[in-house]
Amino acid sequence: MTAVADLDEAQAKAELARLAFEIRFHDTAYYQNDAPAISDAEYDALRQRNSAIEARFPNLKRADSPSERIGASPTDGADGFSKVRHSRPMLSLGNAFNEADVADFLAGIRRFLKLDDDTAVAIVAEPKIDGLSAALRYENGVFVQGATRGDGEVGEDITANLRTIADLPKRFLGDAPEVFEVRGEVFMNHGAFAELNRKQEAAERPAYANPRNAAAGSLRQLDPGVTASRQLSFRAYAWGEVSALPSHTQAGVLAAMQAWGFKVQEHEVCRNVAEMMAYHGATEAGRSARPYDIDGIVYKVDRLDWQDRLGAASRSPRWAIAHKFAAEQAQTLVEDIDIQVGRTGKLTPVARLKPVTVGGVVVSNATLHNEDYIAEKEIRKGAMVLVQRAGDVIPQVLSVVEPGPAAFVFPSICPACGANAVREEGEVDWRCGGGLNCAAQSVERLRHFVSRNAFDIEGLGEKQISAFHDAGVVMQPGHIFQLRDRINKTGGKPLQEWEGWGETSANNLFAAIDDRRRISLERLIFALGIRHVGQGNAKLLARNYETLAKFQAAMTPDSLQELLDIDGIGEKVAKALLAFFDDSHNKVVWDALVGGLDVQDMERADTTSELAGKTLVFTGTLEQTSRAEAKARAEALGAKVSGSVSAKTDLVIAGAAAGSKLKKAQALDVKVIDEAEWLALAGGHIELQEEETS
Ligand code: IVH
Repeated sequence: MTAVADLDEAQAKAELARLAFEIRFHDTAYYQNDAPAISDAEYDALRQRNSAIEARFPNLKRADSPSERIGASPTDGADGFSKVRHSRPMLSLGNAFNEADVADFLAGIRRFLKLDDDTAVAIVAEPKIDGLSAALRYENGVFVQGATRGDGEVGEDITANLRTIADLPKRFLGDAPEVFEVRGEVFMNHGAFAELNRKQEAAERPAYANPRNAAAGSLRQLDPGVTASRQLSFRAYAWGEVSALPSHTQAGVLAAMQAWGFKVQEHEVCRNVAEMMAYHGATEAGRSARPYDIDGIVYKVDRLDWQDRLGAASRSPRWAIAHKFAAEQAQTLVEDIDIQVGRTGKLTPVARLKPVTVGGVVVSNATLHNEDYIAEKEIRKGAMVLVQRAGDVIPQVLSVVEPGPAAFVFPSICPACGANAVREEGEVDWRCGGGLNCAAQSVERLRHFVSRNAFDIEGLGEKQISAFHDAGVVMQPGHIFQLRDRINKTGGKPLQEWEGWGETSANNLFAAIDDRRRISLERLIFALGIRHVGQGNAKLLARNYETLAKFQAAMTPDSLQELLDIDGIGEKVAKALLAFFDDSHNKVVWDALVGGLDVQDMERADTTSELAGKTLVFTGTLEQTSRAEAKARAEALGAKVSGSVSAKTDLVIAGAAAGSKLKKAQALDVKVIDEAEWLALAGGHIELQEEETS
């Protein structure tokens, strides 16, 4: 078989056709006939070869490319909905709050794409509806499956419920592509919301707090008949897997979806920050007259080839951003100030408020951040304060309207465990010094451990974790995977006899736990809850070390420099990681945990590319692409990007005016290439198609 790097264009085209056919054949064998003809590894190799060829020849990518299709088989969820793996992740959006943020967004795009000053960037601005996103799959124009967003990777199959929404065409009008997955927002109009709550009250059922919750509750009904009675609406604004795109612009695809029979999100094309601000201002001014809730404007780069090049950083695309409206505000009384203990021991003051409705939601707590925030704003028990809430953000106390009697004294002992708390110089936070003996910290860590982006164990939420902790059954993460044994050992009743548990729920929980023994390295690292190691850094580390063994081997104090060499890992993060693994108790906890797990190696984005697994260093100025784009491209091809040259560096890409790193590479005899060679190796820009495909 010819290596990908040696294929010429004609060969590559033929190879892509063969691979598309072969992968489709094996998908059918596996998913539909339940009779795989080749091993998983052989199948993966086919897909990887396909992706590698596509990466080298992006213009040859087929409309029916297998890389755009994942044939995951739905498995039954515990609560009655099957799981659906999204063909392309359903991302969330970064936020902008003011003109400066909007200007930064545009400037960032220009930098990333390396556009010159005369190139205009058209931006599509759309009101952001405050509902829930859904993915609707159409095959040959027929609605076949609908799913919730879930965690962005895996959602729930709610096809039957979505089918009841009147706005949602069951069939495309006119010609339809083979596959087209429409994405958009499900929401409830104010009128429908008021009527629903009237009915809820009449039936002595609890009212919904706001239209968004009502829409969510209505979509998750096990009986589609109930969903049908709820008057939900739908607007299309994006897409997932598609066999062909009807246009090469965002606005063009919106128009096509409209022609197919969808209600699409209204929108306007803007050419600069001033036009974006004007659209935002005008839409915000008309906000209360709208029959449904919107909470901002979404800006999207109009050109789809640019959207492709910009790609996504972590959880949100670089080509889109949500510009939020000003938060809604209200006045209320601070009834008390409590202290919460976080998983890293941080003490967070929380205002307990006299419940007040802010923008349709009842608010009874607000974060007070830290000691200085309270002192500066003179927030006291008994004060009247102005609170604000913006979207899903935790409510904030903005200012004091009428002062309270006595100044608040921040406690210097942990309210949960009684250990001394310390506020180190230069820090704003007080921290509990009780470490692992502090029950509040250990419960918070466990809660983080099972949370959605970490182990995500179904049926094991805050409530259950606290109960298991109180009973002495789950004191550290590894105990979760020995739950049955530990319940027996502690001499308690079997789980199905505990209050709130039954045979089915207990069995479901054990099954859900077993299911999660197989876990990605990335999730495992994130789940540890180490300070400064969030999802983004966990991913970086997993990508860099690839296997549990290599990761573990690097968690020793002498690996500091190696950690710092990872592009994107700074000193704070590296030190926090090493301090965690340097703690003898943590080591015991870690060993007990990983002993019961099957940790998956990090999948390289593309293992057949000749760059896969290689360590690259960029230096000097690139002319054709920005450094950020080059880095994203290298990572997509399975390479690691390091910030400094060492004996471990495989390749240095030297742009104009490269200096010391180039010298070092030469001294160490590391291969050096220039930008043109880099582009040939990694594939250059995706050219804008002149003609519309379809
Ligand atoms: S685009 C990759 N457009 O906002 C871009 N989202 O914070 C994906 N939303 O989950 C989203 N109106 O539920 C987009 N016109 C719009 C939207 C919109 C509402 C919601 C959507 C998404 C969330 C992102």
